[in-house]
Amino acid sequence: LLEQTPVRYDENRKCWDVFRYEDVQYVLKNPKLFSSQRNRSNQSLLYMDPPKHKQLRDLVNQAFTPKKIEQLAPHIREIAEDLLDPHLANGRIDLVHELAGPLPVIVIAELIGVPTTDRHTFKHLSDLLVKGARDDSEEAFQELMDEKAQAHEELEQYFTNIVNERRQALQDDLVSLLIEAEIEGQKLSDLEIVRFCILLLVAGNETTTNLITNAVRILCEQPELQQRIAGQPTLIPTTVEETLRYYPPIVAIGRVASEDVVLQGQTIQAGQQVISWVGAANRDERKFAQSEQFVPDRKPNQHMGFGFGIHFCLGAPLARLEGRIVLETLLAKMRNMKLEAGAELQPIQSAFVFGVREYPL
Ligand code: HEM
Repeated sequence: LLEQTPVRYDENRKCWDVFRYEDVQYVLKNPKLFSSQRNRSNQSLLYMDPPKHKQLRDLVNQAFTPKKIEQLAPHIREIAEDLLDPHLANGRIDLVHELAGPLPVIVIAELIGVPTTDRHTFKHLSDLLVKGARDDSEEAFQELMDEKAQAHEELEQYFTNIVNERRQALQDDLVSLLIEAEIEGQKLSDLEIVRFCILLLVAGNETTTNLITNAVRILCEQPELQQRIAGQPTLIPTTVEETLRYYPPIVAIGRVASEDVVLQGQTIQAGQQVISWVGAANRDERKFAQSEQFVPDRKPNQHMGFGFGIHFCLGAPLARLEGRIVLETLLAKMRNMKLEAGAELQPIQSAFVFGVREYPL
């Protein structure tokens, strides 16, 4: 695909696919030509274009700075250890369900300011938001959509209550920071705060779960690599980056053309859907030497696992921190991690997500 049909139209899916690094970057850095407004019913940051996007992003940025995220490190380590330690005695852990899954949900719940007593309901609702259908039938799809709509409504109500409570008495949490955030007299409305909290769940939980699982997976697939990194933990941050290149949790990003554009000699017409395959771009030999190899100390590593341009992942510092801490914790406490014998990997059913449903270690 990278060599022969770098930009192609797929009749069945009715969309354009873009594969090469240079072209994916072009699409993502030109929001004027390639709009994010491909889902009009979703009014979150992710689906906005300038100038509205910048206004909102600048506001939420105030509450989501790398410095604030770095302060979470000791607590994230505590959560990782609490989740892992009970499994050490029997030497087995179901990585996805017992560590990589719950950790990001707990972190985001605490960051937002969800009381511990609500943690269970919160996890259940946020899992529903990103759940896949049980099979390919029309019936299963409809059932899933209904469940998701219900979860969305319940979360909206839930966060609205939290915003109301914080308006009475601010606390040391993200909702309170969002209430206070202000640029040139502009503030966030209650609805914008509620939508942003929901976006954090949708955008941040499953992606981070897959980052952690994909990183451990590569270490199990390449035991020598695992030994090397276990003996040299300073390599962990670049290993996380290389995982985002090699096994990116998000492999494709959608846009819609706002005007006719010519790319690699092909004319994309205004209104047509364009899928940028960052998973392919990350393996483009024109950009990455030995692109098919996992190089834990690859530098520079300008992968597009977090996207590119104005929508570049807002949660990247948090995802990187969680990835690093979980790898550090696992490598320090579990020697010689292996996928359990006989375990079969089942991919997550989504064209945009790369990950597995279970990973017993
Ligand atoms: C945007 C990937 C973790 C919040 C994005 C985009 C990608 C991405 C590719 C760009 C989408 C586009 O251009 O349309 C990832 C991956 C993650 C991760 C691979 C984990 C490894 C997180 C976390 C959070 C988060 C932990 C927050 C808690 C967001 C938000 C946006 C975003 C709010 C929208 C930014 C905007 O539209 O300006 N993410 N993400 N992400 N991500 Fe992440």
